[in-house]
Amino acid sequence: MSKNFDVVVIGGGPGGYIAAIRAAQLGFNTACIDEWKNEKGGPAPGGTCTNVGCIPSKALLQSSEHYEHASHGFAEHGIEVKGLGLNLEKMLGRKNTVVKQNNDGILYLFKKNKVSFFHGRGSFVKGDANGYEIKVAGAAEETITAKHVIVATGSNARALPGAEFDEKLILSNTGALSITEVPKKLGVIGAGVIGLEMGSVWRRLGAEVTVLEALPTFLGAVDEQIAKEAQKLLTKQGLAVNLGVKIGAIKAGKNSVSVEYTDAKGDAHTGEFDKLIVSIGRTPNTIGLNAEGVGLKLDERGFIAVDGDCKTNLPNVWAVGDVVRGPMLAHKAEEEGVAVAERIAGQHGHVNFNTIPWVIYTSPEIAWVGKTEQQLKAEGVQYKAGTFPFLANGRARALGDTSGMVKFLADAKTDEILGVHIVGPMASELISEAVVAMEFRASSEDIARICHAHPSLSEATKEAALAVDKRALNF
Ligand code: FAD
Ligand code: NAI
Repeated sequence: MSKNFDVVVIGGGPGGYIAAIRAAQLGFNTACIDEWKNEKGGPAPGGTCTNVGCIPSKALLQSSEHYEHASHGFAEHGIEVKGLGLNLEKMLGRKNTVVKQNNDGILYLFKKNKVSFFHGRGSFVKGDANGYEIKVAGAAEETITAKHVIVATGSNARALPGAEFDEKLILSNTGALSITEVPKKLGVIGAGVIGLEMGSVWRRLGAEVTVLEALPTFLGAVDEQIAKEAQKLLTKQGLAVNLGVKIGAIKAGKNSVSVEYTDAKGDAHTGEFDKLIVSIGRTPNTIGLNAEGVGLKLDERGFIAVDGDCKTNLPNVWAVGDVVRGPMLAHKAEEEGVAVAERIAGQHGHVNFNTIPWVIYTSPEIAWVGKTEQQLKAEGVQYKAGTFPFLANGRARALGDTSGMVKFLADAKTDEILGVHIVGPMASELISEAVVAMEFRASSEDIARICHAHPSLSEATKEAALAVDKRALNF
Protein backbone atom coordinates (compact mmCIF):
# COMPACT_ATOMS: atom_id res chain seq x y z
CA MET A 1 0.00 0.00 0.00
CA SER A 2 1.35 3.42 -0.95
CA LYS A 3 2.21 5.59 2.07
CA ASN A 4 2.25 8.91 0.23
CA PHE A 5 -1.16 10.39 -0.40
CA ASP A 6 -2.64 13.45 -2.03
CA VAL A 7 -5.36 13.58 0.61
CA VAL A 8 -5.45 12.04 4.09
CA VAL A 9 -8.68 12.26 6.04
CA ILE A 10 -8.47 11.84 9.82
CA GLY A 11 -11.81 10.49 11.07
CA GLY A 12 -14.21 8.18 9.26
CA GLY A 13 -17.58 9.56 10.33
CA PRO A 14 -20.02 11.08 7.84
CA GLY A 15 -17.79 14.12 7.37
CA GLY A 16 -14.61 12.11 6.90
CA TYR A 17 -15.66 9.05 4.94
CA ILE A 18 -17.71 11.10 2.49
CA ALA A 19 -14.82 13.56 2.02
CA ALA A 20 -12.51 10.61 1.31
CA ILE A 21 -14.87 9.10 -1.26
CA ARG A 22 -15.38 12.42 -3.03
CA ALA A 23 -11.61 13.09 -3.05
CA ALA A 24 -11.02 9.65 -4.58
CA GLN A 25 -13.76 10.27 -7.16
CA LEU A 26 -11.91 13.43 -8.14
CA GLY A 27 -8.79 11.41 -8.86
CA PHE A 28 -6.78 11.96 -5.67
CA ASN A 29 -4.78 9.17 -4.07
CA THR A 30 -6.72 9.18 -0.80
CA ALA A 31 -6.49 7.60 2.65
CA CYS A 32 -8.92 7.67 5.53
CA ILE A 33 -7.83 6.95 9.11
CA ASP A 34 -10.43 5.98 11.70
CA GLU A 35 -9.93 4.55 15.16
CA TRP A 36 -13.45 3.32 16.05
CA LYS A 37 -13.42 -0.34 17.15
CA ASN A 38 -16.26 -2.83 17.07
CA GLU A 39 -16.74 -5.23 19.99
CA LYS A 40 -14.15 -7.58 18.45
CA GLY A 41 -11.59 -4.81 18.12
CA GLY A 42 -12.05 -4.60 14.34
CA PRO A 43 -12.68 -1.45 12.32
CA ALA A 44 -16.09 0.20 12.56
CA PRO A 45 -16.00 3.28 10.32
CA GLY A 46 -18.96 5.64 10.28
CA GLY A 47 -18.18 7.57 13.45
CA THR A 48 -20.67 8.67 16.04
CA CYS A 49 -23.44 8.72 13.45
CA THR A 50 -23.13 5.06 12.48
CA ASN A 51 -22.01 3.56 15.78
CA VAL A 52 -23.73 5.48 18.56
CA GLY A 53 -25.80 8.17 16.88
CA CYS A 54 -28.11 8.59 13.91
CA ILE A 55 -28.29 4.97 12.79
CA PRO A 56 -28.71 2.99 16.06
CA SER A 57 -31.07 5.65 17.47
CA LYS A 58 -33.28 5.45 14.39
CA ALA A 59 -33.22 1.64 14.55
CA LEU A 60 -34.46 1.73 18.16
CA LEU A 61 -36.96 4.50 17.40
CA GLN A 62 -38.42 2.29 14.67
CA SER A 63 -38.51 -0.85 16.82
CA SER A 64 -40.02 0.94 19.80
CA GLU A 65 -42.61 2.59 17.58
CA HIS A 66 -43.63 -0.83 16.22
CA TYR A 67 -43.97 -2.01 19.82
CA GLU A 68 -46.09 0.98 20.75
CA HIS A 69 -48.32 0.50 17.69
CA ALA A 70 -48.76 -3.14 18.52
CA SER A 71 -49.63 -2.36 22.14
CA HIS A 72 -51.84 0.71 21.61
CA GLY A 73 -52.29 1.57 17.94
CA PHE A 74 -53.37 -1.63 16.17
CA ALA A 75 -56.66 -2.05 18.05
CA GLU A 76 -58.15 0.96 16.27
CA HIS A 77 -57.43 -0.78 12.95
CA GLY A 78 -59.30 -3.85 14.12
CA ILE A 79 -56.12 -5.81 14.70
CA GLU A 80 -56.17 -7.65 17.98
CA VAL A 81 -52.83 -8.59 19.46
CA LYS A 82 -52.72 -11.10 22.25
CA GLY A 83 -49.68 -12.13 24.24
CA LEU A 84 -47.58 -9.23 23.05
CA GLY A 85 -44.06 -9.44 24.42
CA LEU A 86 -40.86 -7.49 24.33
CA ASN A 87 -37.58 -9.24 23.55
CA LEU A 88 -35.21 -6.38 24.29
CA GLU A 89 -32.12 -8.49 23.65
CA LYS A 90 -33.34 -9.19 20.12
CA MET A 91 -34.28 -5.54 19.58
CA LEU A 92 -30.80 -4.42 20.63
CA GLY A 93 -29.31 -7.22 18.51
CA ARG A 94 -31.18 -5.96 15.46
CA LYS A 95 -29.92 -2.45 16.15
CA ASN A 96 -26.34 -3.80 16.31
CA THR A 97 -26.86 -5.63 13.01
CA VAL A 98 -28.06 -2.44 11.35
CA VAL A 99 -24.95 -0.66 12.66
CA LYS A 100 -22.68 -3.43 11.34
CA GLN A 101 -24.36 -3.31 7.91
CA ASN A 102 -23.47 0.37 7.77
CA ASN A 103 -19.86 -0.20 8.99
CA ASP A 104 -19.41 -2.89 6.33
CA GLY A 105 -21.05 -0.69 3.72
CA ILE A 106 -18.45 2.02 4.31
CA LEU A 107 -15.56 -0.46 4.10
CA TYR A 108 -17.03 -1.68 0.81
CA LEU A 109 -17.32 1.90 -0.48
CA PHE A 110 -13.67 2.54 0.43
CA LYS A 111 -12.64 -0.51 -1.61
CA LYS A 112 -14.89 0.43 -4.51
CA ASN A 113 -13.47 3.96 -4.64
CA LYS A 114 -9.86 2.87 -3.95
CA VAL A 115 -9.63 4.79 -0.67
CA SER A 116 -6.86 3.31 1.51
CA PHE A 117 -8.26 2.69 4.98
CA PHE A 118 -6.09 2.78 8.10
CA HIS A 119 -7.52 1.54 11.39
CA GLY A 120 -6.01 3.48 14.26
CA ARG A 121 -5.52 6.92 15.69
CA GLY A 122 -4.13 9.56 13.36
CA SER A 123 -2.02 12.41 14.68
CA PHE A 124 0.06 15.15 13.15
CA VAL A 125 3.82 14.65 13.36
CA LYS A 126 5.01 17.69 11.39
CA GLY A 127 4.40 19.50 8.17
CA ASP A 128 4.00 22.65 6.13
CA ALA A 129 2.61 23.76 2.77
CA ASN A 130 4.66 21.02 1.07
CA GLY A 131 2.99 18.21 2.97
CA TYR A 132 2.30 16.62 6.34
CA GLU A 133 3.49 13.55 8.15
CA ILE A 134 0.69 11.72 9.92
CA LYS A 135 1.32 8.96 12.44
CA VAL A 136 -1.21 6.14 12.52
CA ALA A 137 -1.28 4.28 15.83
CA GLY A 138 -3.24 1.08 15.32
CA ALA A 139 -2.35 -2.58 15.68
CA ALA A 140 1.01 -1.40 14.33
CA GLU A 141 2.42 2.10 14.14
CA GLU A 142 3.22 3.68 10.80
CA THR A 143 3.69 7.08 9.27
CA ILE A 144 2.04 8.28 6.09
CA THR A 145 2.33 11.56 4.22
CA ALA A 146 -0.29 13.85 2.77
CA LYS A 147 -0.35 16.93 0.56
CA HIS A 148 -3.74 17.82 2.00
CA VAL A 149 -5.22 16.81 5.34
CA ILE A 150 -8.93 16.89 6.16
CA VAL A 151 -9.65 16.67 9.90
CA ALA A 152 -13.04 15.16 10.68
CA THR A 153 -12.62 13.93 14.23
CA GLY A 154 -16.19 14.64 15.36
CA SER A 155 -17.50 15.25 18.86
CA ASN A 156 -18.07 13.65 22.24
CA ALA A 157 -20.98 13.83 24.69
CA ARG A 158 -20.64 16.59 27.29
CA ALA A 159 -20.79 15.38 30.89
CA LEU A 160 -22.15 17.37 33.81
CA PRO A 161 -19.40 18.33 36.26
CA GLY A 162 -19.27 15.80 39.08
CA ALA A 163 -21.33 13.25 37.15
CA GLU A 164 -18.96 11.52 34.77
CA PHE A 165 -20.45 8.94 32.43
CA ASP A 166 -20.05 5.40 33.75
CA GLU A 167 -22.40 4.08 31.01
CA LYS A 168 -24.06 1.86 33.63
CA LEU A 169 -26.11 4.35 35.64
CA ILE A 170 -25.11 7.71 34.19
CA LEU A 171 -25.38 7.33 30.45
CA SER A 172 -24.24 9.30 27.43
CA ASN A 173 -25.76 8.52 24.04
CA THR A 174 -23.56 5.41 23.98
CA GLY A 175 -25.10 3.87 27.10
CA ALA A 176 -28.58 5.18 26.25
CA LEU A 177 -28.58 3.01 23.11
CA SER A 178 -27.66 -0.18 24.96
CA ILE A 179 -29.73 -0.40 28.15
CA THR A 180 -30.30 -4.13 28.61
CA GLU A 181 -33.38 -3.95 30.83
CA VAL A 182 -36.14 -1.37 30.46
CA PRO A 183 -35.67 0.98 33.43
CA LYS A 184 -38.73 1.56 35.58
CA LYS A 185 -37.74 5.16 36.12
CA LEU A 186 -35.53 6.92 33.62
CA GLY A 187 -34.17 10.42 34.18
CA VAL A 188 -33.06 12.51 31.22
CA ILE A 189 -31.13 15.76 31.66
CA GLY A 190 -31.56 18.02 28.62
CA ALA A 191 -34.72 18.22 26.51
CA GLY A 192 -32.75 18.59 23.28
CA VAL A 193 -32.64 16.26 20.30
CA ILE A 194 -31.07 13.27 22.06
CA GLY A 195 -33.16 13.69 25.22
CA LEU A 196 -36.41 13.67 23.28
CA GLU A 197 -35.44 10.85 20.90
CA MET A 198 -33.96 8.53 23.51
CA GLY A 199 -36.61 9.52 26.06
CA SER A 200 -39.24 8.49 23.49
CA VAL A 201 -37.58 5.13 22.82
CA TRP A 202 -37.52 4.09 26.48
CA ARG A 203 -40.96 5.54 27.27
CA ARG A 204 -42.45 3.50 24.43
CA LEU A 205 -40.79 0.40 25.84
CA GLY A 206 -42.33 1.01 29.26
CA ALA A 207 -40.10 3.37 31.25
CA GLU A 208 -41.50 6.27 33.24
CA VAL A 209 -39.45 9.10 31.79
CA THR A 210 -38.72 12.42 33.50
CA VAL A 211 -36.93 15.04 31.41
CA LEU A 212 -35.18 17.89 33.20
CA GLU A 213 -34.40 20.93 31.05
CA ALA A 214 -32.57 24.07 32.15
CA LEU A 215 -34.20 26.47 29.69
CA PRO A 216 -37.65 27.89 30.42
CA THR A 217 -38.85 27.22 26.85
CA PHE A 218 -39.33 23.89 25.13
CA LEU A 219 -37.11 23.47 22.03
CA GLY A 220 -36.15 27.14 21.94
CA ALA A 221 -34.56 26.91 18.48
CA VAL A 222 -37.73 25.51 16.91
CA ASP A 223 -40.55 27.71 15.57
CA GLU A 224 -42.60 28.56 18.65
CA GLN A 225 -45.95 27.39 17.28
CA ILE A 226 -44.46 24.05 16.20
CA ALA A 227 -42.57 23.63 19.49
CA LYS A 228 -45.75 24.26 21.49
CA GLU A 229 -47.66 21.69 19.46
CA ALA A 230 -44.82 19.17 19.83
CA GLN A 231 -44.64 19.74 23.58
CA LYS A 232 -48.40 19.16 23.88
CA LEU A 233 -48.24 15.94 21.86
CA LEU A 234 -45.15 14.50 23.57
CA THR A 235 -46.50 15.35 27.03
CA LYS A 236 -49.79 13.66 26.18
CA GLN A 237 -47.82 10.52 25.32
CA GLY A 238 -46.43 10.51 28.85
CA LEU A 239 -43.05 12.18 28.49
CA ALA A 240 -42.82 14.34 31.63
CA VAL A 241 -40.87 17.43 30.55
CA ASN A 242 -39.84 19.83 33.33
CA LEU A 243 -38.60 23.19 32.06
CA GLY A 244 -36.55 25.84 33.85
CA VAL A 245 -34.91 23.38 36.26
CA LYS A 246 -31.56 23.86 37.92
CA ILE A 247 -29.63 20.66 38.42
CA GLY A 248 -27.82 20.20 41.73
CA ALA A 249 -25.94 17.20 43.06
CA ILE A 250 -26.07 13.93 41.13
CA LYS A 251 -25.22 10.83 43.13
CA ALA A 252 -24.81 7.38 41.67
CA GLY A 253 -25.67 4.64 44.18
CA LYS A 254 -25.38 0.90 43.66
CA ASN A 255 -28.42 0.48 41.44
CA SER A 256 -29.88 3.94 41.08
CA VAL A 257 -29.03 7.59 40.62
CA SER A 258 -30.41 10.51 42.58
CA VAL A 259 -30.65 13.96 41.06
CA GLU A 260 -31.27 17.04 43.16
CA TYR A 261 -32.89 19.89 41.26
CA THR A 262 -35.02 22.95 41.74
CA ASP A 263 -38.02 23.49 39.48
CA ALA A 264 -39.03 26.68 37.67
CA LYS A 265 -40.72 27.96 40.84
CA GLY A 266 -37.57 27.38 42.88
CA ASP A 267 -38.96 24.38 44.79
CA ALA A 268 -36.38 21.70 45.60
CA HIS A 269 -36.80 18.07 44.45
CA THR A 270 -34.82 14.87 44.44
CA GLY A 271 -35.43 12.48 41.56
CA GLU A 272 -34.54 8.81 42.03
CA PHE A 273 -33.87 7.03 38.76
CA ASP A 274 -32.81 3.54 37.70
CA LYS A 275 -30.80 5.13 34.89
CA LEU A 276 -29.93 8.69 34.01
CA ILE A 277 -29.26 9.90 30.46
CA VAL A 278 -27.29 13.14 30.30
CA SER A 279 -27.83 14.81 26.92
CA ILE A 280 -26.78 18.42 27.32
CA GLY A 281 -24.88 18.88 24.09
CA ARG A 282 -21.59 17.71 22.63
CA THR A 283 -18.02 18.97 22.59
CA PRO A 284 -15.59 18.92 19.65
CA ASN A 285 -13.07 16.08 19.70
CA THR A 286 -9.42 16.92 19.07
CA ILE A 287 -7.97 14.45 21.56
CA GLY A 288 -4.77 12.78 20.37
CA LEU A 289 -4.55 14.79 17.15
CA ASN A 290 -1.44 16.70 18.28
CA ALA A 291 -3.07 19.91 17.05
CA GLU A 292 -0.86 21.94 19.36
CA GLY A 293 2.29 20.21 18.07
CA VAL A 294 1.75 21.58 14.55
CA GLY A 295 0.08 24.83 15.60
CA LEU A 296 -3.42 23.94 14.41
CA LYS A 297 -5.61 26.66 15.90
CA LEU A 298 -8.68 25.91 18.01
CA ASP A 299 -11.29 28.54 18.86
CA GLU A 300 -12.25 29.54 22.40
CA ARG A 301 -14.79 26.69 22.61
CA GLY A 302 -12.34 24.02 21.49
CA PHE A 303 -13.57 23.69 17.89
CA ILE A 304 -10.95 23.68 15.14
CA ALA A 305 -11.01 27.26 13.86
CA VAL A 306 -11.99 27.39 10.18
CA ASP A 307 -13.14 30.01 7.70
CA GLY A 308 -16.30 29.77 5.59
CA ASP A 309 -14.51 27.31 3.28
CA CYS A 310 -13.41 24.96 6.11
CA LYS A 311 -9.78 26.09 5.79
CA THR A 312 -7.79 26.01 9.02
CA ASN A 313 -4.88 28.31 9.87
CA LEU A 314 -2.44 25.72 8.45
CA PRO A 315 -1.85 25.57 4.69
CA ASN A 316 -3.62 22.62 3.05
CA VAL A 317 -5.23 21.51 6.32
CA TRP A 318 -9.01 21.54 6.33
CA ALA A 319 -11.60 20.57 8.95
CA VAL A 320 -15.25 19.54 8.60
CA GLY A 321 -18.22 18.26 10.59
CA ASP A 322 -18.82 18.32 14.34
CA VAL A 323 -15.25 19.39 15.08
CA VAL A 324 -15.92 22.79 13.47
CA ARG A 325 -18.56 25.49 14.02
CA GLY A 326 -22.14 25.07 12.81
CA PRO A 327 -24.87 22.54 13.49
CA MET A 328 -23.76 19.10 14.65
CA LEU A 329 -25.58 17.16 11.96
CA ALA A 330 -24.42 14.26 9.82
CA HIS A 331 -25.68 15.81 6.58
CA LYS A 332 -23.92 19.11 7.37
CA ALA A 333 -20.68 17.15 7.95
CA GLU A 334 -21.15 15.30 4.64
CA GLU A 335 -21.81 18.47 2.65
CA GLU A 336 -18.70 20.09 4.11
CA GLY A 337 -16.67 16.97 3.29
CA VAL A 338 -17.78 17.04 -0.35
CA ALA A 339 -17.20 20.79 -0.64
CA VAL A 340 -13.66 20.54 0.77
CA ALA A 341 -12.69 17.70 -1.59
CA GLU A 342 -13.99 19.79 -4.49
CA ARG A 343 -12.11 22.88 -3.29
CA ILE A 344 -8.88 20.84 -3.14
CA ALA A 345 -9.57 19.92 -6.76
CA GLY A 346 -9.89 23.61 -7.64
CA GLN A 347 -13.66 23.46 -7.91
CA HIS A 348 -16.16 25.71 -6.12
CA GLY A 349 -17.64 23.45 -3.45
CA HIS A 350 -20.41 25.18 -1.56
CA VAL A 351 -22.55 24.54 1.51
CA ASN A 352 -25.72 26.58 1.92
CA PHE A 353 -26.17 26.93 5.68
CA ASN A 354 -29.59 28.53 5.15
CA THR A 355 -31.07 25.36 3.76
CA ILE A 356 -29.75 22.70 6.13
CA PRO A 357 -32.78 20.76 7.34
CA TRP A 358 -33.24 19.69 10.96
CA VAL A 359 -35.23 16.66 12.01
CA ILE A 360 -36.14 15.36 15.45
CA TYR A 361 -37.29 11.77 15.07
CA THR A 362 -39.90 11.70 17.80
CA SER A 363 -43.43 10.65 16.97
CA PRO A 364 -44.73 12.82 15.49
CA GLU A 365 -41.51 13.95 13.87
CA ILE A 366 -40.41 17.57 13.99
CA ALA A 367 -38.63 18.98 10.93
CA TRP A 368 -37.74 22.40 9.70
CA VAL A 369 -35.64 24.42 7.31
CA GLY A 370 -34.95 28.15 7.16
CA LYS A 371 -36.12 30.85 9.53
CA THR A 372 -38.56 30.54 12.39
CA GLU A 373 -41.32 33.09 12.95
CA GLN A 374 -39.50 34.45 16.01
CA GLN A 375 -36.29 34.91 13.98
CA LEU A 376 -38.13 36.82 11.24
CA LYS A 377 -39.75 39.06 13.87
CA ALA A 378 -36.38 39.72 15.51
CA GLU A 379 -34.87 40.57 12.12
CA GLY A 380 -37.78 42.88 11.26
CA VAL A 381 -38.63 40.90 8.12
CA GLN A 382 -42.20 41.33 6.84
CA TYR A 383 -43.65 37.88 6.26
CA LYS A 384 -46.86 35.94 5.64
CA ALA A 385 -47.62 32.63 7.36
CA GLY A 386 -49.77 29.71 6.26
CA THR A 387 -50.50 26.56 8.24
CA PHE A 388 -52.36 23.35 7.45
CA PRO A 389 -53.22 20.66 10.03
CA PHE A 390 -52.73 16.96 9.26
CA LEU A 391 -56.20 16.51 10.78
CA ALA A 392 -57.58 17.75 7.43
CA ASN A 393 -55.34 15.51 5.30
CA GLY A 394 -56.93 12.34 3.90
CA ARG A 395 -53.76 10.25 3.92
CA ALA A 396 -53.04 11.18 7.56
CA ARG A 397 -56.57 10.07 8.48
CA ALA A 398 -56.07 6.79 6.65
CA LEU A 399 -52.76 6.30 8.42
CA GLY A 400 -54.40 7.05 11.75
CA ASP A 401 -51.85 9.76 12.48
CA THR A 402 -53.42 13.19 12.24
CA SER A 403 -51.34 15.06 14.78
CA GLY A 404 -49.46 18.22 13.91
CA MET A 405 -49.28 20.65 11.01
CA VAL A 406 -47.21 22.12 8.21
CA LYS A 407 -46.33 25.80 8.43
CA PHE A 408 -44.98 28.05 5.67
CA LEU A 409 -43.33 31.41 6.17
CA ALA A 410 -42.93 33.55 3.05
CA ASP A 411 -41.69 37.04 2.34
CA ALA A 412 -44.62 39.48 2.48
CA LYS A 413 -43.63 41.21 -0.76
CA THR A 414 -41.86 38.66 -2.94
CA ASP A 415 -43.56 35.51 -1.56
CA GLU A 416 -40.13 33.78 -1.43
CA ILE A 417 -40.23 30.89 1.04
CA LEU A 418 -38.23 31.83 4.14
CA GLY A 419 -38.93 28.84 6.35
CA VAL A 420 -40.98 25.66 6.51
CA HIS A 421 -41.79 23.96 9.81
CA ILE A 422 -43.49 20.64 10.28
CA VAL A 423 -44.62 18.61 13.23
CA GLY A 424 -46.38 15.49 12.05
CA PRO A 425 -46.10 12.06 10.43
CA MET A 426 -43.06 11.57 8.18
CA ALA A 427 -41.95 15.18 8.63
CA SER A 428 -38.39 13.93 7.96
CA GLU A 429 -39.36 13.01 4.40
CA LEU A 430 -41.75 15.92 3.79
CA ILE A 431 -39.14 18.54 4.63
CA SER A 432 -37.09 17.64 1.51
CA GLU A 433 -39.61 19.34 -0.76
CA ALA A 434 -39.19 22.54 1.23
CA VAL A 435 -35.38 22.27 1.06
CA VAL A 436 -35.50 21.87 -2.72
CA ALA A 437 -37.94 24.76 -3.03
CA MET A 438 -35.75 27.04 -0.91
CA GLU A 439 -32.60 26.06 -2.83
CA PHE A 440 -34.38 27.16 -6.01
CA ARG A 441 -35.63 30.26 -4.18
CA ALA A 442 -39.21 29.26 -4.90
CA SER A 443 -42.25 31.22 -3.77
CA SER A 444 -45.03 29.71 -1.73
CA GLU A 445 -47.19 30.05 -4.84
CA ASP A 446 -44.76 27.79 -6.73
CA ILE A 447 -45.46 24.99 -4.24
CA ALA A 448 -49.17 25.84 -4.17
CA ARG A 449 -49.40 25.39 -7.96
CA ILE A 450 -47.45 22.11 -8.14
CA CYS A 451 -49.54 18.95 -8.55
CA HIS A 452 -49.08 16.74 -5.45
CA ALA A 453 -50.17 13.09 -5.45
CA HIS A 454 -53.47 12.28 -3.76
CA PRO A 455 -53.83 11.01 -1.15
CA SER A 456 -50.45 11.87 0.28
CA LEU A 457 -49.05 13.67 3.30
CA SER A 458 -47.32 16.02 0.87
CA GLU A 459 -50.71 17.54 0.09
CA ALA A 460 -50.50 19.13 3.54
CA THR A 461 -47.36 20.91 2.32
CA LYS A 462 -49.20 22.18 -0.76
CA GLU A 463 -52.17 23.26 1.37
CA ALA A 464 -49.93 25.13 3.82
CA ALA A 465 -48.41 26.94 0.84
CA LEU A 466 -51.94 27.78 -0.36
CA ALA A 467 -52.76 28.98 3.15
CA VAL A 468 -50.04 31.63 2.88
CA ASP A 469 -52.42 33.33 0.43
CA LYS A 470 -55.44 32.35 2.56
CA ARG A 471 -56.74 29.94 -0.04
CA ALA A 472 -56.30 26.47 1.42
CA LEU A 473 -58.81 24.19 -0.29
CA ASN A 474 -59.37 21.52 2.33
CA PHE A 475 -59.45 23.55 5.51
P1 FAD B 1 -18.14 11.68 13.90
O1 FAD B 1 -19.31 10.98 13.36
O2 FAD B 1 -18.07 11.87 15.37
O3 FAD B 1 -16.88 10.84 13.42
C1 FAD B 1 -15.60 11.13 13.85
C2 FAD B 1 -14.76 9.86 13.70
O4 FAD B 1 -13.39 10.21 13.85
C3 FAD B 1 -15.04 8.79 14.75
O5 FAD B 1 -15.14 7.54 14.13
C4 FAD B 1 -13.82 8.85 15.65
O6 FAD B 1 -13.50 7.60 16.23
C5 FAD B 1 -12.76 9.24 14.64
N1 FAD B 1 -11.57 9.89 15.23
C6 FAD B 1 -11.53 10.92 16.11
N2 FAD B 1 -10.26 11.28 16.34
C7 FAD B 1 -9.49 10.46 15.58
C8 FAD B 1 -8.10 10.35 15.38
N3 FAD B 1 -7.23 11.17 15.96
N4 FAD B 1 -7.66 9.38 14.53
C9 FAD B 1 -8.53 8.55 13.93
N5 FAD B 1 -9.86 8.62 14.07
C10 FAD B 1 -10.33 9.57 14.89
N6 FAD B 1 -27.22 13.81 13.03
C11 FAD B 1 -28.13 13.82 12.04
O7 FAD B 1 -27.95 14.52 11.05
N7 FAD B 1 -29.26 13.03 12.10
C12 FAD B 1 -29.51 12.24 13.16
O8 FAD B 1 -30.53 11.56 13.18
C13 FAD B 1 -28.59 12.24 14.23
N8 FAD B 1 -28.81 11.47 15.30
C14 FAD B 1 -27.90 11.45 16.32
C15 FAD B 1 -28.17 10.68 17.43
C16 FAD B 1 -27.28 10.65 18.48
C17 FAD B 1 -27.58 9.80 19.69
C18 FAD B 1 -26.06 11.41 18.40
C19 FAD B 1 -25.06 11.37 19.51
C20 FAD B 1 -25.80 12.19 17.30
C21 FAD B 1 -26.72 12.23 16.25
N9 FAD B 1 -26.51 13.02 15.12
C22 FAD B 1 -27.43 13.05 14.12
C23 FAD B 1 -25.31 13.85 14.99
C24 FAD B 1 -24.28 13.14 14.09
O9 FAD B 1 -23.98 11.88 14.64
C25 FAD B 1 -23.01 13.97 13.97
O10 FAD B 1 -23.34 15.28 13.54
C26 FAD B 1 -22.07 13.35 12.96
O11 FAD B 1 -21.71 12.04 13.34
C27 FAD B 1 -20.82 14.19 12.78
O12 FAD B 1 -19.99 13.58 11.86
P2 FAD B 1 -18.41 13.78 11.90
O13 FAD B 1 -17.89 13.02 10.73
O14 FAD B 1 -18.09 15.20 12.01
O15 FAD B 1 -17.93 13.11 13.26
P1 NAI C 1 -28.93 19.63 22.31
O1 NAI C 1 -28.11 20.83 22.15
O2 NAI C 1 -29.88 19.25 21.24
O3 NAI C 1 -29.79 19.72 23.65
C1 NAI C 1 -29.20 19.90 24.89
C2 NAI C 1 -30.26 20.40 25.84
O4 NAI C 1 -29.75 20.33 27.14
C3 NAI C 1 -30.65 21.85 25.58
O5 NAI C 1 -32.04 21.97 25.55
C4 NAI C 1 -30.02 22.59 26.75
O6 NAI C 1 -30.74 23.74 27.14
C5 NAI C 1 -30.06 21.52 27.83
N1 NAI C 1 -29.07 21.71 28.88
C6 NAI C 1 -27.79 22.11 28.76
N2 NAI C 1 -27.19 22.15 29.96
C7 NAI C 1 -28.12 21.74 30.87
C8 NAI C 1 -28.09 21.55 32.27
N3 NAI C 1 -27.00 21.79 32.98
N4 NAI C 1 -29.22 21.12 32.88
C9 NAI C 1 -30.34 20.87 32.15
N5 NAI C 1 -30.41 21.04 30.82
C10 NAI C 1 -29.31 21.45 30.18
O7 NAI C 1 -27.88 18.45 22.59
P2 NAI C 1 -28.04 16.87 22.62
O8 NAI C 1 -29.46 16.47 22.74
O9 NAI C 1 -27.05 16.39 23.59
O10 NAI C 1 -27.56 16.46 21.18
C11 NAI C 1 -26.30 16.90 20.71
C12 NAI C 1 -26.36 17.18 19.26
O11 NAI C 1 -26.39 15.96 18.52
C13 NAI C 1 -27.61 17.91 18.79
O12 NAI C 1 -27.52 19.30 18.98
C14 NAI C 1 -27.64 17.58 17.35
O13 NAI C 1 -26.78 18.45 16.68
C15 NAI C 1 -27.10 16.18 17.32
N6 NAI C 1 -28.22 15.23 17.22
C16 NAI C 1 -29.00 15.29 16.12
C17 NAI C 1 -30.09 14.46 15.99
C18 NAI C 1 -30.95 14.58 14.81
O14 NAI C 1 -30.56 15.26 13.86
N7 NAI C 1 -32.11 13.96 14.77
C19 NAI C 1 -30.41 13.45 16.99
C20 NAI C 1 -29.55 13.52 18.15
C21 NAI C 1 -28.49 14.36 18.22
